Amino acid sequence: MTPEPILALRDVSVQLGGRKGLLRRTVPPVRAVSGVSLELQEGEILSLVGESGCGKTTLGRTILGLQRESAGEILLDGASVGGLPSDAARRARRTIQYVHQDAAAALDAWWSIGRTLAEGLLIHGVRDAGERRDRVVAMLSAVGLDPASARRYPQEFSGGQLRRVALARILLLQPRVLILDEPTSGLDMSVQATVLNLLLDLRERFSLTYLFISHDLSVVERLSDRVAIMYLGRIVEAGPAKELFADPSHPYTRTLLAAAPRLSGRRASGQSLVRGDPPSHATALPGCAFFDRCPIGEPACQASMPPLEPIASAHDVACFRAAPSGAAASVHHRATTARSAASSDIVSPLRISSAKPSLGTITVRQ
Ligand SMILES: Nc1ncnc2c1ncn2[C@@H]1O[C@H](COP(=O)(O)OP(=O)(O)OP(=O)(O)O)[C@@H](O)[C@H]1O
Ligand code: SF4
Ligand SMILES: [Mg+2]
Repeated sequence: MTPEPILALRDVSVQLGGRKGLLRRTVPPVRAVSGVSLELQEGEILSLVGESGCGKTTLGRTILGLQRESAGEILLDGASVGGLPSDAARRARRTIQYVHQDAAAALDAWWSIGRTLAEGLLIHGVRDAGERRDRVVAMLSAVGLDPASARRYPQEFSGGQLRRVALARILLLQPRVLILDEPTSGLDMSVQATVLNLLLDLRERFSLTYLFISHDLSVVERLSDRVAIMYLGRIVEAGPAKELFADPSHPYTRTLLAAAPRLSGRRASGQSLVRGDPPSHATALPGCAFFDRCPIGEPACQASMPPLEPIASAHDVACFRAAPSGAAASVHHRATTARSAASSDIVSPLRISSAKPSLGTITVRQ
């Protein structure tokens, strides 16, 4: 029997904005997330991938409780933590923490790192100053920083060191689930690799579960146990990372992966092969949202939204023309850019070496 997921989303939708604009015109709300269902098992790394603006950060903020879901349910250890005002939602979800891509943004430039980290502990009820000091020193060591760093200020750290500080700050709060939103963006390749290795180490050491949001498919391929592909607020494909990268089924996934650098070192185009721009969240039509850009779409695809359905064990796809996993070749012929990788190309997602050429960042949207 599958154990209870640590975190589960059931049919979660999120609307943003919606207000009176100039001349009393109504600005309609944006449906940034639509009917998303996901599960995270304790200790796993689930990656969320998709073009800019597809709703990844909104989903992360909603899981955290910073953004209220407009429909659906969020369960932590099987208990509902949804439908609460933001203060109560944050309290109920304090074991979930968010690592922002701009590490410096969460730090006060006028406070030493030690003071910032200790303040977090004080807010969380650690009254004894000696205990706070000891825990800060231990955590700085755990993330690979010299404990003397506690006396330094944010502007005295490099980008990679700031990511470590941000992780230390969050880990002091003893989270169980981390939402990592583009945690390596803006770092050069070797620093990316050390940060990713640190994340793997910390996951084991502190028994963490990760929701990893990234544009960098080569990193996602290596790091993830499972991957969910998001398009215009919906999950269009989700499955085990190895299977999804070896045999992607949704036309959107296939074109995304075709543009990604390969772990095997084989060259990819390096640019997005998805035609055009996604439609607006506000003007989405009733049929498949990918229709206008799909190389294999048929008129029938415009009639209704394809549901996310299993095509193999733990592998779901939202496409009327998706073939069962392993048989997707029957529709590959029209997706001329699709990549079909032999499973031997897939490197086990264990450790990331800075020597590998595969950590180059690609921006999916051109
Ligand atoms: N406060 C807001 N009001 C209205 N629309 C918003 C608001 N915040 C975000 N959006 C819209 O919601 C959609 C999803 O945004 P979100 O930031 O979640 O995307 P993302 O996938 O994280 O993108 P990126 O990869 O660029 O970070 C976008 O169309 C965005 O313009
Ligand atoms: S449902 Fe139709 S339009 Fe949508 S992805 Fe599948 S084939 Fe393309
Ligand atoms: Mg984002």
